[in-house]
Amino acid sequence: MASLLRDARDALRHLMIARDNMVAAWPKSYYRREMIVEKLLGRRLVIVNLPAGVQHVLVSHADRYPKSPSNDQALRTLLGQGLFVSEGPLWLRQRRAVTPAVHTGRLPGYAAAIVQAGEEMLARWRARPAGFEVDVTEDFTLLTAEIISRIMFGFRLGEKVHELFDAFAAYQASHGRVHMAELLGLPNWLPRPSRLRGRRAVARFDRVIMEIIAAGRARNVTDFEEFLALLINFRDEQGRPMDPSLVRDEVASIFLAGHETTAITLGWASWLLETHPAVEERLVAEVRHVLGSRAPTIEDYPRLTYTRAVVEETLRLYPPVHVFSRRATADDEIAGVKIPRGTFVTISSWVLHRHKLWWEAPEKFDPERFLPPRAEKNERFAYIPFGAGPRICLGKHLGLMEAVLLLAMIVRDWRLTLRPGHPVEPLGRMTLRPRLGLPMRIAPRP
Ligand code: HEM
Repeated sequence: MASLLRDARDALRHLMIARDNMVAAWPKSYYRREMIVEKLLGRRLVIVNLPAGVQHVLVSHADRYPKSPSNDQALRTLLGQGLFVSEGPLWLRQRRAVTPAVHTGRLPGYAAAIVQAGEEMLARWRARPAGFEVDVTEDFTLLTAEIISRIMFGFRLGEKVHELFDAFAAYQASHGRVHMAELLGLPNWLPRPSRLRGRRAVARFDRVIMEIIAAGRARNVTDFEEFLALLINFRDEQGRPMDPSLVRDEVASIFLAGHETTAITLGWASWLLETHPAVEERLVAEVRHVLGSRAPTIEDYPRLTYTRAVVEETLRLYPPVHVFSRRATADDEIAGVKIPRGTFVTISSWVLHRHKLWWEAPEKFDPERFLPPRAEKNERFAYIPFGAGPRICLGKHLGLMEAVLLLAMIVRDWRLTLRPGHPVEPLGRMTLRPRLGLPMRIAPRP
């Protein structure tokens, strides 16, 4: 009885805090437990913390666990039927259609574009007075947005990026919070004022997205593995082109899925490095040894092993996509826990990546855990920054390479230090960001 009450209290507390900040809401006990069943107002929610259970839900039985529709409601208004939220045959067709755009053979070209855009940002930094301050999450977001637009759509965003960001910020302000109504599974038709504001923001966002698509059509792209060309030139078995609204949804999805995550990773890495000088020193030594004073190329990527471990460890402690919500479409059982059809199944990579049973000193920033021989001991399904199974991140290799190359370029020549006294608090909403940004002083590294 006491434990039932404790569970109910935990669940209620969880829901209340989750509305503001999902990662602060997880009770301490969850970081030790393998499977958690919550029951609230008749809704059954199972939280899976067991690596074999994660594999079950995301990989081996993924067909029984589609993305939870209520949870994705916030994204659907913006992304329509795009890859991130669609399901079933439509998702499969679209995923197959765009996969050539992230083929490893394309990575060298992407690396060159990433480095070029990175150099443009660093040139802007050089032009500023020594020791200036920026919120690095903003600079990195501008950078990665420009990169995704150039490599996926062949479009230089330039100043237009601000229009997209303003619209997106307005959208997040109306939809970013996990709505209580959604958490409790209340019917979708219930009016929610935030939706109207959200729709207005989408219309502003769409003006730029439509311009990108129109430019792609006018350019008559001949590179048939280019993302936008794959959408524009697509023909189904009956020879019909892709519906223009779906082209719009996919462009919006790749734009959003493909930049914010990488930008946040660079932000968290910059902050972790300045608070861990020994790691920073070793990282700078590697980068200077591998690159000397020249710009990186794709050939350097496999040689930047410690840099990659720093990025992987950053993604463990601060996974930008920090929660996976699924809903069981059939009765099932995971590790002896009954999962009746309709159960909401949640995997929090934030909890999983800091779980006491799967990680030694989980709170410690220790990139070496991703280097051999220690890396071999890591539980495969206790580490899912890019997800797993059929819905694994489409841009996994691209995003990782991008973060490694950009981090190498930044730390070689620049020292970033947080504004003294600035509070850094992870805020788990749609993505996991620092609540008040990361204002950092940027100075040349001696
Ligand atoms: C560090 C960078 C990145 C991280 C941490 C990340 C993380 C993730 C995660 C965890 C998922 C799976 C979500 C789920 O199963 O519910 C996902 C999906 C996705 N990501 Fe990424 N991502 C990153 C970069 C990128 C990039 C650069 C692209 C651009 C191509 C991209 C495109 C996508 C797409 C399209 C999906 C949906 C895939 C599907 O459902 O079939 N991501 N990402």
